[in-house]
Amino acid sequence: MNKFFLALFACLMIFSFVYAEDTAVIENILNRKSVRQYTTQDVEKEKIDAIIKSGMSAPSAVNLQPWEIVLITDKKVLSEISKKHPYASFTKNASIAIVVCGNSEISPDYWIQDCSAVTENILLATESLGLGAVWCGVYPSPDRVSTIQQILKLPKNIIPLNVIPIGYPKGENLPKQKYNPSKIHINSWTLNK
Ligand SMILES: Cc1cc2nc3c(=O)[nH]c(=O)nc-3n(C[C@H](O)[C@H](O)[C@H](O)COP(=O)(O)O)c2cc1C
Repeated sequence: MNKFFLALFACLMIFSFVYAEDTAVIENILNRKSVRQYTTQDVEKEKIDAIIKSGMSAPSAVNLQPWEIVLITDKKVLSEISKKHPYASFTKNASIAIVVCGNSEISPDYWIQDCSAVTENILLATESLGLGAVWCGVYPSPDRVSTIQQILKLPKNIIPLNVIPIGYPKGENLPKQKYNPSKIHINSWTLNK
């Protein structure tokens, strides 16, 4: 009898393992939020590698992968970006920053979409690793593009889409509630009130 119950228990475990819906990815997406305050703790190399690998696994038009990633670990460079980007003063307190750039010669029509997909992957990876980050827009502001190109010594065809400061979060950071059913249109444009 004991063997029967053991076998039944094993079957139930296997069934629930195979058929249970894994909501971890959805929860990670729903928990992502912009984080602009960081502790002094450095981000470990393994985590940086995982973040960049996640970024580069993004989809891209015709699989051209027109991205280039600049990893910033030098505090002087972080501080220079803080001073010169009008909305990224907190970058100086981050452990690192990642600048997602597009090669406009490889994919003139789609580099922005491709690099945006890289960016979202990076933001989701940081969330899943207990880190905080925020997308600080660079392109299409001509001033910001040329400033970041100058600081990082980028060639003209390498266009910075954004700067993403990353660090261990400080203080309370909560995801915003954005779900809005009135923005969903079924089969054709309908106003759902
Ligand atoms: C294209 C783009 C540019 C952004 N630029 C900045 C920026 O320069 N500085 C900043 O602090 N946040 C910037 N953000 C972050 C937004 O402010 C943030 O995503 C928005 O307020 C929603 O908050 P959440 O990310 O916590 O959901 C940018 C976001 C996007 C998508």
